[in-house]
Parts: sequence; C-alpha cells; structure tokens
Amino acid sequence: MSCVQEWPEPIVRVQSLAENGCATIPDRYIRVPKERPGEDLVAHDVDIPLIDLGGLFSPDEGAHAATLAKVGKACREWGFFQVVNHGVPGDLMDRVLEVWRQFFHLPMEEKQRYANSPNTYEGYGSRLGVEKGAILDWSDYYFLHYLPSGLKDHNKWPAHAPYHRDVVEEYLAEVVKLSGRLMKVLAINLGLQEDRLQNAFGGEEVGACLRVNFYPKCPQPDLTFGLSSHSDPGGLTFLLPDSHVSGLQVCKDNKWVTVKPSRHAFIVNIGDQMQVLSNAHYKSVEHRVMVNPNVERLSLALFYNPTGNLLIEPIKELVTPQKPALYRPMTFNEYRLYIRSTGLHGKSQVESLKRNINQDKHDHF
Ligand code: OGA
Ligand code: NI
Repeated sequence: MSCVQEWPEPIVRVQSLAENGCATIPDRYIRVPKERPGEDLVAHDVDIPLIDLGGLFSPDEGAHAATLAKVGKACREWGFFQVVNHGVPGDLMDRVLEVWRQFFHLPMEEKQRYANSPNTYEGYGSRLGVEKGAILDWSDYYFLHYLPSGLKDHNKWPAHAPYHRDVVEEYLAEVVKLSGRLMKVLAINLGLQEDRLQNAFGGEEVGACLRVNFYPKCPQPDLTFGLSSHSDPGGLTFLLPDSHVSGLQVCKDNKWVTVKPSRHAFIVNIGDQMQVLSNAHYKSVEHRVMVNPNVERLSLALFYNPTGNLLIEPIKELVTPQKPALYRPMTFNEYRLYIRSTGLHGKSQVESLKRNINQDKHDHF
C-alpha cells in the first residue's frame, strides 16, 4: 500500500461550520436515510458495566479476586466498561480536559499551524480516511504519539501555553500506568502469565497515542454522526469524555446503548488487536458518537497499542485443536494503514483478517 501524502479534498473544519451558525449542514455530512441515527435501534434503561477498581490495590485477596472477576465478565460480555477508583487523580482528569478545551477555542489561524496530513495523522485534523467524496463525520480532532518514546515529538504538540504540554505529559504517564495494570488483569483472566499480553504488545516498545475528539454543536443531529460506527483498531482504549453530556453509543445485541459517563471514570474498551491476540476470547465492539444541537463535547481517547512492526497473531497458549487460530498475522502498522486509507467501517477490517480455516487445512496437503 502506498503512502498517501495529501488529503483528497480541501479540509473544512467542522468547528468553523458550526460557528457559522447555519441551520443546515453541508451534504458531505448527511448520511443516507438507512444509516442515520435512529431511535428505534436504541436500547433504553441499560448501560455498560461500572467497575470499582479499588480492589486491585487492596491487600484483601478476596476483594482482589472479585475485581478481576468483574473485569473478566465485562470483557467477555460487553468489551466496554467504565472504571472508577483507578488511581488516576480526578483533578488531573479535569485539568487535561480543560487544557484541550482551551486549545479548541484558540483562533483558527493558531490551530491551523498544527494541521495534519494523512501521512502520520499527527496534529490537528478533521477527517479519517482518504477516500475522495466520502461522507464525513461531524468532528475535529488532535492526534499525537506518546509511546514508544522514539515516536514522541513535542514539536508536533500544541505549544500555545507553556503548561499545556506538562499537563498532557502528566496525564498520559498516569493513564499508561493504568493501562499496564489492566493488561495484567486481562492476561490473568485469560489464564496467561501476567506479563504475557504486555510482551505480545512489544514490552518496553508498546505504543500509546492520544486522540482528542472535539464535537461541535450540530444543527441537524439526526442526519449525521460525530464519529461513525467503528471498532478501535488498537489494543485497549481509555476514554475520558466530558461528563456533562453523553454522545457515545455502544453496540450490544444489535441495539445501541448510550453510555452515561460517570464523573472521573474512564471508559475502557477492547480493540481489534486484543481480539486477534486473544483469539476472540475478547472482542472489539462497534461504537459511534451522536452529536448534540445545544452542547459541544470533548473526549480524550488514549489508545494502548502493540508496537508497530511486530506481527500480531493469536497467542499460542490460546490456540487449541478445538479453537484454531482465527486470524492471520499482520503488523499493527500495516493494519493501521489499511484503516487510514479506507476510513471507519464498523468491524469489517478485523473481520477481513479472519483465516479461511478449511482453506488452510487444504494447503497442508
Ligand atoms: C474514538 C472514539 C468516542 C467518543 O476516539 O475512537 O470512539 O466518545 N471516541 O469520543
Ligand atoms: Ni473509538
């Protein structure tokens, strides 16, 4: 696959469209009728599990085991859950949301200095995918690398305020610590050595990047999405959304469940690479974001990923005659390039990694 250098069309900032105060949205953002957000498919009175992680830090073995079991059940049944008492200070979570809100409220000329390209996606962006003529989502974002440290480039981070970088650094360090803890919990729950998943992600070379999503107010929220349905391509995602407005919906049993964010909670979800490594014991889950006519919304997604050049395939201990390897090996770099060129399309990309098992058997003869 070739490296795409430029966007196929001039980039329009969604925030500028919203600030123009038009009563209608441009055609580029309007979904065909059967793909629009419909109330009929929304499950009311349910929410993703909310788990208190306090037990993980407790000397009480019973509390520890009970927490592991809760996380295990949530991973298998939902692939999406909220955690509280996770160890990341609440005031740091408030501060990091605030510094990013300030960034998105800078004058447009200042934000444009960080405009990104489809080559690396680093910086200020407004679309994912490079398909000419594609229907676009109602959001802008900022994307940056944190780990492995060789990929981190402070020159590509916002520099409008001296404290911005410090707060973001402090926050990412804390969330990465939490990611490491949860990786162990997930490994133990799969019957693996506690470091097994982390090592499969590349150990010290594990990847972590931040995508800050900004969803401006939208005058026609029934016609478009803030983010269209997708599963996250990486390993695990830690989402910190504004807590005063909801927007995220998770697909469960063919219905959409609206997540009500708890204060100072993280929303954690399984990504495609974890589905592959766990040989589908854990599954990535489709989700999407609705927009709001009255309130803008900000969210920070930390993606904890395998290092880019390592082949990712089902972990040997999880491959048995009864459950052969379901996916063929691919590096995360290759997989991400594929998603970046085609845009968000539900779970079709991870499905395409499925091995044709009968075909493989045949090849052995
Ligand atoms: C994402 C994502 C959800 C949200 O960034 O991949 O799914 O609520 N974000 O912003
Ligand atoms: Ni996502």
